[in-house]
Amino acid sequence: MLIFVSFVRAATSGFCNGITASFIMKNILLLGSGGRESALAWKLSRSELCGNFFIAPGNAGTSEYGMNVPISYNDFPAIKQHCITNKIDIVIPGPEEPLVAGIYDYFKNDVDLKHIIVAGPSKAGAVLEGSKAFSKKFMKRHNIPTAGYFEVTAENFEQGIAYIKRSEPPYVLKADGLAAGKGVVIVSNPYEAIRVMRSMIKEAQFGTAGHTVVIEQFLSGIELSVFVLTDGKHYVVLPEAKDYKRIGVGDTGPNTGGMGSVSPVPFADMAFMDKVRAQIIEPTVTGLLEEQIVYKGFIFFGLINVGGEPFVIEYNCRLGDPETESVMPRLENDLVDLILHMDAGTLDQVVMKTSPKAAATVMMVSGGYPDTYEKGKVITGIGDAPGSILLHAGTVSRDGVVRTNGGRVLAVTSLGHDLKDALEKCYTNAANVEYAGRYYRTDIGFEFV
Ligand code: AMP
Ligand code: GLY
Repeated sequence: MLIFVSFVRAATSGFCNGITASFIMKNILLLGSGGRESALAWKLSRSELCGNFFIAPGNAGTSEYGMNVPISYNDFPAIKQHCITNKIDIVIPGPEEPLVAGIYDYFKNDVDLKHIIVAGPSKAGAVLEGSKAFSKKFMKRHNIPTAGYFEVTAENFEQGIAYIKRSEPPYVLKADGLAAGKGVVIVSNPYEAIRVMRSMIKEAQFGTAGHTVVIEQFLSGIELSVFVLTDGKHYVVLPEAKDYKRIGVGDTGPNTGGMGSVSPVPFADMAFMDKVRAQIIEPTVTGLLEEQIVYKGFIFFGLINVGGEPFVIEYNCRLGDPETESVMPRLENDLVDLILHMDAGTLDQVVMKTSPKAAATVMMVSGGYPDTYEKGKVITGIGDAPGSILLHAGTVSRDGVVRTNGGRVLAVTSLGHDLKDALEKCYTNAANVEYAGRYYRTDIGFEFV
């Protein structure tokens, strides 16, 4: 009966753009608890194909879209149990950690779980994000434009020093492994660069993540984030975005997990995106296939535009935060349908539909962030936000009261007829949300309006 009802819902709703992979509703488990996951939850819950929908662990806002379940996204046995009990069809990992830890392989190697779609790469594919040294070698093998580099470990430490001494500043030093977004250090003094390299490699500043360090040539340009969904052979390009990483107005102060985002990115015109496709996306997807690296999921290309030429700064094996908050409202395709095509290997049959509107996201953070900050502040004014979506990030609901529960608290996202319009809606609605220590940047998208 459920199948029949689902069929009728989908078939009569006219949602189908091009070929639809399935008419049967799917039970979905989304992993994560940030603004990115709120944006994914918002989008997934609007799908005609979304059946029972769970978010693990979610936040105070995701419970509007599905059912939060108190399971950590790294707790594979608990995730397994939940999947079996709730007849989950699709698991969507938001953050990189479960992917790098091998959640795809965990599912595919388990007789009770192998039928479940995991929208993400195998452990071998997640290494594109999990190891900077691997990703640089991969790009070199496939002629993908990226900064020149030198790989250093304890064994060739002296050669690393020599490389720094013969290179031009600034020096970009990257811990090889995951370092919670803190593993990249850029300095202009060669002796400071050597000190940073020593602290990463010999003093284990980032634990084992820094046992290998990549020293890169500095590239000067404007960054943007390009996202694709691949089925391992074909790919579709999602709306591109730009994020604002620094805490302060005018791109000043320390880096954060992201203070806002905009989509589209005006300089990512057709000519530029053609280069991105031909020089970066296609060789990446083909390279993965040639190297027999199983990859069905999102690829996030952190790019930099150097005088009109795209270069890869980094790969991520997931979507970006806070980019996803601006990307999802512009994506007009059904996300569950895209994931089903990804699983079936038929993404070449999909016609992508992107809203011509502009999206903006303003991230509201806790006072003190990205350094120390207090949690537990009562949040008010989150009821109504005309023209915006309030996507929760670090929030928790206790006894009916919503409180801050992290550095990045709430993403205010809006669509507008242009970026200025979208930003105006964001700022009007952000001003109505209150909590002690509230802070947000007032100049998101400044270079484009
Ligand atoms: P990543 O974690 O690799 O994205 O690096 C963090 C940030 O460091 C990037 O978003 C850039 O702003 C900066 N960065 C990384 N690599 C380079 C590079 N080769 N040249 C200039 N800036 C870089
Ligand atoms: N916004 C950058 C990231 O998600 O890594």
